[in-house]
Amino acid sequence: MRIGLLAAAESWERARAGPTAGHLAHSLVRLAATNEAAAAALADRGHETLMITVDDPLPSRLCAAGVDLVFNTYFGPGRRQDQANVASLLEYAGLPFTGGGASCHFLGLSKPLSKRLFLAHGIPTPPFVDTTGLARAAAVEAAAAIGFPLIVKTAAEGEGIGLEESSVVRTPDELGRAMDRIAGAFADAPLVEQFLPGREFTVGVLDGMRPVALPILELVLGDAGIYSYDAKVSGGVAERCPAPLEEPVARIMGDLAVRAGIALGCRDCWRVDFRMDAGGEVFVLEVNTLPGLMPGYSDLPKTAEAAGLDHGQLVAAILASAVRRSARR
Ligand SMILES: Nc1ncnc2c1ncn2[C@@H]1O[C@H](COP(=O)(O)OP(=O)(O)O)[C@@H](O)[C@H]1O
Ligand SMILES: [Mg+2]
Repeated sequence: MRIGLLAAAESWERARAGPTAGHLAHSLVRLAATNEAAAAALADRGHETLMITVDDPLPSRLCAAGVDLVFNTYFGPGRRQDQANVASLLEYAGLPFTGGGASCHFLGLSKPLSKRLFLAHGIPTPPFVDTTGLARAAAVEAAAAIGFPLIVKTAAEGEGIGLEESSVVRTPDELGRAMDRIAGAFADAPLVEQFLPGREFTVGVLDGMRPVALPILELVLGDAGIYSYDAKVSGGVAERCPAPLEEPVARIMGDLAVRAGIALGCRDCWRVDFRMDAGGEVFVLEVNTLPGLMPGYSDLPKTAEAAGLDHGQLVAAILASAVRRSARR
C-alpha cells in the first residue's frame, strides 16, 4: 500500500503553541522518533511511505498525495485540540486513516464530557464537579461537598500538564487557589475530582477482530504521588508490566478499558488510565484516544511488548485494523 504518515511541522506547531509552549520542544523530539520508527516498520512490511506534514494547506495536500490510507500519529503538539481538528480534515478529505474519528478525539480531549459518557455506560469514574459556568464560590462549595482530599485538573490537557503538588487539595482555601491557578493558565474551566489515593495503572487496547486489552502496566509513583508532567519527564516513576494483580481485578480492568474506549467511539487502539481508591476499587480517569507510539517511551508499545508484539508488529496491527475497517465501508 501507499501510506501517508502524518507528522507535525515544527514551524507550524511553534506558531500555534499556547499555554503548553514550554512542553513543545520535548513533544517535537518524541514526534520525530515516533515517525521514524513507524516509517521503518511500514517500510519493513513492504509499504511505500510518504511523509505528510500538518501545516497550512493540509486538506489539498492530503487529497493530492494519492495515498491509500493515512497512518495518523498527529497528537497536536502545539495545540492539543488540533488532534481532533486534524482527524476532521482527514474525514473531510475522504481518506481512510488509523485511529478514532474526529468525534472520538473531541470527546477524549474533554475530561468532563468523557466522564459523563463513562457514567452513562456504567463505567466507574471518580466523582467530579465540572466548574464550567459556575461562580467561584459555588464551584468551591459544590466540589467541597464531594469530600476532601480533591484534585484540581485541567479539563482538556494531557500528559499531566497543569498538575503539581498543590493540585491535590485538603481545604476550601487550597481548592480555591488551585482552581484560580488552572483558570488563569488554561482556556477551559477546571475539573475537580475526588482524589483517589490507591495504585495507578494504564491499559492499552488493540482492536483486532475484536478489541483486546493488552497486559496491564502499573505506574509506581512513589514520592511523586501523582503522574504530573514533571514526574513523567524526570523518569522517576517505576513501571511494572504485567502489573501484579489478582486475576479477577485484572479481568475487570481489561473489560473496563475496552468498554471505556468503545463508549467514546475509539478505533484501532487506545489506552485507558486507572486509579484505585483506598479500598482497591478501580476507577477510570480518562481514555487516551491517540496513544503515543514512541519506542522505549510510550506506554502502548511497552504493554504490546509484554504481550509479545514488538514495535513493528504493533504498527502492523494498528494498520491491519484500519484497513479492515475501511474495507467494510
Ligand atoms: N482523581 C484522581 N485521584 C488521584 N490521582 C489522580 C486523579 N486524577 C488524576 N490523577 C493523577 O494525575 C495524573 C494525570 O491525570 P489524568 O486524568 O490521567 O490526565 P492527563 O490527561 O494529564 O494524563 C494521573 O495519572 C494521576 O496520577
Ligand atoms: Mg492520563
